[in-house]
Amino acid sequence: MPGLLQNHVAAVTGTGSGIGRAIALGFAREGAAIAALDIDGATAAKTAADIRSAGGKAHHFTLDVRDRVSCRDTAARVASEVGRVSILVNNAGINRRNAFTGDPDAVLKDWQDIMATNLNGLFNVTQAFLAPLRALKGRIINLASIQSFMHVRTPNSPAYTTSKHGVVGFTRALAAELGKDGVRVNAIGPGLIETPLNEQVRKNNPDLVKIFLDHTPLGRAGQPEDIVGPAIFLASDLSAYVTGAIVMADGGYRVI
Ligand SMILES: NC(=O)c1ccc[n+]([C@@H]2O[C@H](COP(=O)([O-])OP(=O)(O)OC[C@H]3O[C@@H](n4cnc5c(N)ncnc54)[C@H](O)[C@@H]3O)[C@@H](O)[C@H]2O)c1
Repeated sequence: MPGLLQNHVAAVTGTGSGIGRAIALGFAREGAAIAALDIDGATAAKTAADIRSAGGKAHHFTLDVRDRVSCRDTAARVASEVGRVSILVNNAGINRRNAFTGDPDAVLKDWQDIMATNLNGLFNVTQAFLAPLRALKGRIINLASIQSFMHVRTPNSPAYTTSKHGVVGFTRALAAELGKDGVRVNAIGPGLIETPLNEQVRKNNPDLVKIFLDHTPLGRAGQPEDIVGPAIFLASDLSAYVTGAIVMADGGYRVI
């Protein structure tokens, strides 16, 4: 049986780890050719190699999403080496968990770094791949968060919460503007997913994790694989009439 993403080329940022890696592997299982992008080229190479050994198609590229010129150059390389991108997953993101009232220099650096990756990166990569996405009636999927709607008071930076609110704004704005081209733009809002992004906080603050999970109807933390189904849904024709949506994959955290 052909996969749900047969004949698609998917560019996924942050594919070296966690959610991005799981999405890339899942899309490849559904037949998409993958451009695996990560600032850490070695981990992107590993994801691409794992896809190929499972019988899929993947190339890796070292890409820092903060670098606008590199985004443009990488998009050109992807077009010639993999094909025209019809699915873009803006997944690369960072977090640091310092309070606004902490050391002012550290807080400023967190703000600048988090915005540069989580928001400017989103802009840079989307702009770089816009032409093929418009030509092919493509799909854009952005990684939002519970913190796109609230501030979760496990140790967390205001910059991260602000950036993830911005992801939702960008998703809605592009959905409105690109709908006439047949491009669908949606976001996924994961809850607590066990990845290296939150490894330290899970290790150092088990009580806070418990408070978080006590509020989660499904009563467990998510795994990267829990985000793959929603991503395939949004990337495929299963969601042909869905745009501007934020699909929460948070064990129910946000709704209670
Ligand atoms: N894990 C969670 O609980 C959770 C919850 C909500 C949202 N998210 C979001 O999901 C996305 C993925 O998070 P994750 O948990 O898989 O994190 P992760 O740390 O496991 O993986 C992030 C990947 O992004 C890459 N990356 C970082 N900066 C980059 C840059 N400038 N350019 C290119 N690649 C870069 C890293 O090298 C890494 O491979 C992020 O946007 C994050 O904010 C995660």
